[in-house]
Amino acid sequence: MPMARVFSGVQPSGDLTIGNYLGALRHFVVLQHEHECYFCVVDLHALTLPQDPGELRARTEKVAALLLACGLDPARVTLFVQSHVPAHAELCWLFFGLTYLGELSRMTQFKDKARNRKTVTTGLLNYPVLMAADILLYQAGLVPVGDDQKQHLELARDIAVRFNNRFGETFVVPEPMIAKVGARIMSLDDPTRKMSKSETPDSYVALLDPPEVVAAKLARAVTDSGREIRYRPKEKPGISNLLTIYALSAGKTVREAEAEFDGLGYADFKKAVAEAVVETLRPIQARYRELIGSAELRDILREGSRRAADVAAVTLRTVQEKMGILLP
Ligand code: AMP
Ligand code: TRP
Repeated sequence: MPMARVFSGVQPSGDLTIGNYLGALRHFVVLQHEHECYFCVVDLHALTLPQDPGELRARTEKVAALLLACGLDPARVTLFVQSHVPAHAELCWLFFGLTYLGELSRMTQFKDKARNRKTVTTGLLNYPVLMAADILLYQAGLVPVGDDQKQHLELARDIAVRFNNRFGETFVVPEPMIAKVGARIMSLDDPTRKMSKSETPDSYVALLDPPEVVAAKLARAVTDSGREIRYRPKEKPGISNLLTIYALSAGKTVREAEAEFDGLGYADFKKAVAEAVVETLRPIQARYRELIGSAELRDILREGSRRAADVAAVTLRTVQEKMGILLP
C-alpha cells in the first residue's frame, strides 16, 4: 500500500494561537518527513463569516508565513492558498448534489456559529462540504486536525463513500488524525471552552505575542481555589490545561510535568509555563519576521498552488466524467 497522502487546512480568520500550534501545526511538521503533504490556507472558509477585505488578504499571507515558520519545509510539502486552486470551489459545487440539508444543519460547529446571529448565510451551512472537497481533491488518506474538526471529517468520509457507491470507486476515504494530548487546548479565561482566535485576546496566546504579553496572559489565566498542581480535567480544568500546554511546549509528558511542580505555588507554576511557551515561540517568531512580505514567501505559494492545481485537476476531471459533465 502506498503511503497515505496528508491534507490539512488552516483558516486565515484571526491570529493563530498556541491551540492551533499544539493541536495541529506541530503534527504537520512531523508528518512532512513521512508523507506526501498538502497544507492549505483556507481563505474561502474564512469568508463564510464577514471579513474585512484588507485584513483577510494580510492574514492569508500571515498564516502561510506562520506555517513555514513553524517548520514546514517547502521542499517537502505543498503549501498553498485555497482560492488559488479553483478546483476546490468546483468540486464543492459538485458535492452539493450529494449532501443533505439535515446532515449540515446538525453540525455542532454550524449550530454554535449560527447561534446569536440575526441572519445565517448558506456559506456557514455549506462550510463542511468545501472542507470535504479540500480533502478529497488530493485523495488524502490522513487528516491531522484538532478535536473540533472530528464531525466535519465524518462528513467528508460520508461524501467519499456515497460518491464511491453511486459512481464507482473514486475517492480514498480519509481518516482523521487527532492526537491524544493537546487536541483541545482550552481558553485561558474560561477553561471549559476551547481556545479560539475568534474570542477575546486575553483568552489565547497568539503565536506572535511578545514574551511579556505571553507572561501577562498566563499570569492572569483562570485556575481554581485549590493549591495542588494535578492533572484532573474535570475538577481542575484551568490547571490541567496549563499542565498540557507546559508539557507539550517543554517536550515532556503530563506526568513528568506534575512531578516537576509538586508542592509549588500557582504563581511560580504559571511563570514556568510562560517560559516554556516563550521558548517554543521564539524561533517561530524569528523565522516569521524573515518571511513576511518576502519574495521568497510569494514564490513558495506560487509554486505550491501550481503543484496543488496539477493534482487537483486529475481528481476533478475524473469526477466530472463520472457525474456526466460534457467535457469541453
Ligand atoms: P482553524 O484555526 O479553526 O482553522 O484551525 C486550524 C487547526 O487547529 C485545526 O486542525 C483545528 O482543529 C486546530 N485547533 C484550533 N483550535 C484548537 C484548540 N483550541 N486546541 C487544539 N487544536 C485546535
Ligand atoms: N475547518 C478547519 C478548521 O477550522 C479548516 C479546514 C478547512 C480543514 N479545510 C480543511 C482542515 C481540510 C482539515 C482538512 O480548523
